[in-house]
Amino acid sequence: MPILCRRNHINDELFVLDKVKKFSITTKCDCGNQDLNEFFHKDAVHYKEDLLAETYALYLKSKGARSLGPLAFVALANDTIKLSKSLKRKLISHKKRYIEEYPAVKIARLGVHKESQRNGLGTHLINLLKALFTTDNRTGCRFLTIDAYNRKEVLRFYKKNEFDFLHDEDKEEPTRIMFYDLKRFSLTT
Ligand SMILES: CC(C)(COP(=O)(O)OP(=O)(O)OC[C@H]1O[C@@H](n2cnc3c(N)ncnc32)[C@H](O)[C@@H]1OP(=O)(O)O)[C@@H](O)C(=O)NCCC(=O)NCCS
Repeated sequence: MPILCRRNHINDELFVLDKVKKFSITTKCDCGNQDLNEFFHKDAVHYKEDLLAETYALYLKSKGARSLGPLAFVALANDTIKLSKSLKRKLISHKKRYIEEYPAVKIARLGVHKESQRNGLGTHLINLLKALFTTDNRTGCRFLTIDAYNRKEVLRFYKKNEFDFLHDEDKEEPTRIMFYDLKRFSLTT
């Protein structure tokens, strides 16, 4: 599958993921979750202004599809993670284990339009992000991270997309920290 990767834009045969510039389009996407909708419809623009998060929108590439509005949104921010000794031993080469916090990008928010959920779009978007952050990076970025809603279907979604739990301390919390090692993606592509 050919993927074209630019600074603010990534696309493959069927989809394009574009950085949002006009936030008026965000109201065209309803992911069925009030907090997420409120973030994308109202707050995302301020997060951009304050340099706290950038929002991207997923569209089908076919003619006229853009006017129907985005199929999904994702907001991204820089992050770091601390790995336990055992995770360091598993993931990081011996000489780089002295690093205390590893560079990452956080999926700050992610929502798929409610009528399009469970069709593989969320998975497709995650795959585009994996490609985006392993192609021509400006800075080192080893992991994707997410504070995932601690709900069975959401955890299942991230597990299916090869995210792991960072630790078990947040097992009973409303959100759980999960991560994906981008090295896995760069080794398989
Ligand atoms: C969670 C979300 C992003 C998943 O995106 P999606 O496009 O619907 O997910 P996909 O079709 O790629 O699903 C991949 C796998 O995740 C799991 N999954 C996704 N939605 C699920 C659901 N509602 N119930 C159970 N499993 C689910 C399944 O294992 C699915 O694989 P399968 O369909 O082969 O069984 C989307 O449903 C969404 O936006 N939900 C509302 C907002 C939200 O909860 N966002 C997460 C913030 S952390």
